[in-house]
Amino acid sequence: MDGNGRWAERRGLPRTDGHAAGEEALMDTIWGALDAGIRWITVYAFSTENWKRPVEEVRFLMGFNERLLLTRRDELNEAGVKVQFIGRRNWRVPRRVLKHIADTEELTANNKRMTLSMAFNYGGRAELVDAVSAMVAEGIKPDKVSEKAIRKHLYDPKMPDPELMIRTSGEYRISNYLLWQIAYSELVFTEVLWPDFRREDLYDAVREYQNRERRFGGLDTE
Ligand code: IPE
Ligand code: MG
Repeated sequence: MDGNGRWAERRGLPRTDGHAAGEEALMDTIWGALDAGIRWITVYAFSTENWKRPVEEVRFLMGFNERLLLTRRDELNEAGVKVQFIGRRNWRVPRRVLKHIADTEELTANNKRMTLSMAFNYGGRAELVDAVSAMVAEGIKPDKVSEKAIRKHLYDPKMPDPELMIRTSGEYRISNYLLWQIAYSELVFTEVLWPDFRREDLYDAVREYQNRERRFGGLDTE
């Protein structure tokens, strides 16, 4: 969800207004995804690297994400959305936010229509470090280290590999997002800044995805 700062700067507004404007983009994308029958969305809300930003912006983002959680979780729950989080839980995130995260996951745990996974305090390398660390702690033997074993130790072992990854704001980078999971994802880049993103932009990306030929390293057999 990139481009909030630039969106605000172009309007002569503080960067944080761009983050605030991203809420409507997120909600419209979620409702649009539900209408289209999309079963799983993972959004990059806050990265392990975002702590490097000025302390006021970090504080704003913590409070903003917390408020978003509290104000939106009931409607998401009623819509059948399971809300969950991936990322480092016990590092830097205020205890109060962790409590709201746990409550939200519990509230929505049995919902089946869609999973909304929030990557919060998330980094792809950190996730792999945490997975390796957990495996070492379990004393896993070298010959038991496999792709399956690694996947089992990711933040959400049940998360399917994304079919499509969208990056907004005209940046052509992965920025440490879902490094393990996007090995074969189709990547769509758009110039649209996140606060301007709407369901139609999601549908454009899905249409582009539908025109791609996915071979997973094999040959097209059709
Ligand atoms: C993305 O927008 C929001 C977060 C990283 C939380 P940015 O804040 O990165 O916006 P730009 O890239 O400066 O425009
Ligand atoms: Mg950015």
